[in-house]
Amino acid sequence: MKKVIVTGGAGYIGSHTCVALVEAGYSPVVVDNFCASDPGVLARVRELTGRELSVHQVDCRDRAALARVFEAEAPVHGVIHFAAHKCVGVSVREPREYYDNNIGSLLALLWVLERSPVPGLVFSSSCTVYGQPEQLPVTEASPIKRAESPYGRTKQICESLLQDVVASGSALRAVTLRYFNPIGAHPSGRLGELPLGTPQTLVPYITQTAAGLRDELVVFGNDYPTPDGTCVRDYLHVCDLASAHVAALEWLERQAAGALHEVFNVGTGRGVSVLEAIRAFEDVTGVRVRHRFGPRRSGDAAAVYAGVEKAQRELGWRACLGIREAMRHAWIWQRGLGSEPREIGRAR
Ligand code: UD1
Repeated sequence: MKKVIVTGGAGYIGSHTCVALVEAGYSPVVVDNFCASDPGVLARVRELTGRELSVHQVDCRDRAALARVFEAEAPVHGVIHFAAHKCVGVSVREPREYYDNNIGSLLALLWVLERSPVPGLVFSSSCTVYGQPEQLPVTEASPIKRAESPYGRTKQICESLLQDVVASGSALRAVTLRYFNPIGAHPSGRLGELPLGTPQTLVPYITQTAAGLRDELVVFGNDYPTPDGTCVRDYLHVCDLASAHVAALEWLERQAAGALHEVFNVGTGRGVSVLEAIRAFEDVTGVRVRHRFGPRRSGDAAAVYAGVEKAQRELGWRACLGIREAMRHAWIWQRGLGSEPREIGRAR
């Protein structure tokens, strides 16, 4: 079976992608330092897939350790690189840590790949690279604007790094996936998002408020130029996002020989407002979410949703699940977590 190294494989998107890889006939090899994830998640991946999982506790910045993983697991068919810090707010307070970890880990990986090339690398990026978009939907051709945070800049720099390495004559074959807003959980309720401390993103805040762990949700702004005044985003079920990684690996396999770096948006193509998201949750669960309107959050764009034609055409991938399924699964996951917010690793 083809081995795929999954850095950050114990994380939210990484763990769902491991399941999707097994279902597609690949053999995931997890590389994770567990700084923001729980190794117990991997036992759940094993349980869901019924398969053993090779796991290496390694910090991806450690080039020598990473090289040893590639040697031990050879031949490696592909790499999916998730391992990175992702909290916008923390990145503002700890830019050195964000630049060091997010750029350092990709750099180390690229050095290792130069010595042990693999047929394909899939890099985890974000729609945050578009900054405040001027036109909707946001397509891959939309301009890359100044990012709103150090976190966003690390993603822009990583994408440029991939582009420059390909232009340098390296054999690198890479796909960058720009995720819009991943939400939801595995339908079994066995995998999902484990926010560190107070959730910064909308859906974990909704589920924790519904579970009584938070008093109320503050909706950041209701005076945006959108139909109901609240911000519009493209919420994507994490299982759909996981399958986009499999589609990206398969796309790489189909491409003619030679170095390449191609970028794809991964979203649903549909915009949903904060109020619509809350209503979708309340509808499918029958549980009310206490909320009130508060001031705008700095850096938030009024509306962002993806142009998804390129992913549909090239990858043959499209989102199959909607916000209602995502909310239903997020709630199953939240109820399985019990009554205490989970604190894992450091909030980075
Ligand atoms: C998030 C991430 C960003 C990532 C992007 C795409 C953060 C802060 N932002 O952006 O790094 O690149 O997804 O995956 O982690 N909202 C509330 N109340 C809340 C929380 C959120 O009203 O308590 C609103 C926000 O103002 C926004 C919407 O909900 O309009 C979605 O917010 P969030 O889930 O944080 O996602 P993004 O900011 O779009």
